[in-house]
Amino acid sequence: MPRESEESLELQKGKHSVVYLTKKYAIKQFHEQFLYNFLKEVKFLTLLQPFFFTPKLYFVDFENRKIIMERLRGRKFDEAFSKFTVKRTLEACFIMDSIGIEKREMNHPDKHIIVSDDVYFIDFERGRFKEKPSNLTQFCIYLRKFGIEVGRELMQEYKSSISRESFEKILERVLEKL
Ligand SMILES: Nc1ncnc2c1ncn2[C@@H]1O[C@H](COP(=O)(O)OP(=O)(O)OP(=O)(O)O)[C@@H](O)[C@H]1O
Ligand SMILES: [Mg+2]
Repeated sequence: MPRESEESLELQKGKHSVVYLTKKYAIKQFHEQFLYNFLKEVKFLTLLQPFFFTPKLYFVDFENRKIIMERLRGRKFDEAFSKFTVKRTLEACFIMDSIGIEKREMNHPDKHIIVSDDVYFIDFERGRFKEKPSNLTQFCIYLRKFGIEVGRELMQEYKSSISRESFEKILERVLEKL
C-alpha cells in the first residue's frame, strides 16, 4: 500500500487554472493573468458555504492564487441524471437566484456539477451579482434536452418574481415529467 505522501497527484487542466487533486483536497491554482477570476471564485465560494451544494472551502492562498477546497468524487450530471439530482439542482438554482448570484452556464451543468451523495457545484469564477439571476431558467433550458418543457408562462412568472410560489410551480411541473 502506498503511503499517503507517495500517492500520485491527479491533475486537471482548465483554461483558467490547474486543479491538483489529492485524496482529500482539490487545490485550484489560477494562472497569473486570471487574478480577477480567482477573486470572484473566492468570493462566491465563500458566500455559498452555508448551503448544501458547494465543496467545503478550507483555505485561500492569496499570494499564490490558490483555493484549497474539498475534493469531490462522483459522476457527471448527465450520467447521474435522476429525479433526485434534478430536484436538488433546481433547489440550488433557486437559492442562488434568491440571493442574487448568477453562476452562469447552468445550461451546461455537465461541466459544473459533480454528483455524489448530493449535487455539488464547482467553478464559480464567472459568477456575478445580478438583481434577477437566470440560474433556474437556464437549467430549465437544459432540461428540454430530456423532453422536459416547463412552458413560457411559468418561466416568465418565475423570472419576474423569483418567489417561492413560482419556484414550487416549476418544481412540480418538472417532477411530474420525470
Ligand atoms: N472540488 C473539486 N473536487 C474534485 N474535482 C474538482 C474540484 N474542482 C475542480 N475539479 C476538477 O477540475 C476540473 C477543472 O476545474 P474548473 O472547471 O473549476 O477549472 P477552470 O480552470 O475554471 O476550467 P475552465 O477554464 O474550463 O472553466 C473540473 O472539471 C473537475 O474535474
Ligand atoms: Mg472555470
